[in-house]
Amino acid sequence: MPTSFKPPLYAISIGLPRFSHDVIKNSGAFCVNFIADEQREMVIKCGTSSGRNVDKFREFKIAKEECETIECPKIKKVVGFLECRVVESVETGDHTIFIGEVLKSNLQGHGKRIYHIDGTRFATVSD
Ligand SMILES: Cc1cc2nc3c(=O)[nH]c(=O)nc-3n(C[C@H](O)[C@H](O)[C@H](O)COP(=O)(O)O)c2cc1C
Repeated sequence: MPTSFKPPLYAISIGLPRFSHDVIKNSGAFCVNFIADEQREMVIKCGTSSGRNVDKFREFKIAKEECETIECPKIKKVVGFLECRVVESVETGDHTIFIGEVLKSNLQGHGKRIYHIDGTRFATVSD
């Protein structure tokens, strides 16, 4: 969720056991990818497997590219993205909220973006 406009801050909440949790904690960076409706299958595959056991880019044939402002790969074809540097983290129960300063953002694709309600049910938002 966006948490500030000046400076631009964006927060994500990541479960403590996730591989992503340790990667973000150690690197101090993350990239948020906004995903198109046609990419639902990819979301489910990535959201039900762990980077601890599998290279998701390779396994699911997802084209990637490097971020410009942080050392982090991102998905090449997305509706939009936010490159973030962690400025604060808050432990909350079994998750950590990572608050990132948005160093670069782009809205590169048009069309419907998906969001989810409980990890299994999806809806769309248009631009
Ligand atoms: C649609 C969707 C959204 C998800 N959102 C989150 C989230 O916000 N935070 C989180 O910790 N896990 C979330 N998950 C679960 C993780 O993606 C899942 O546990 C994944 O296996 C973690 O991979 P990793 O171990 O490579 O980090 C989500 C899963 C799905 C399918």
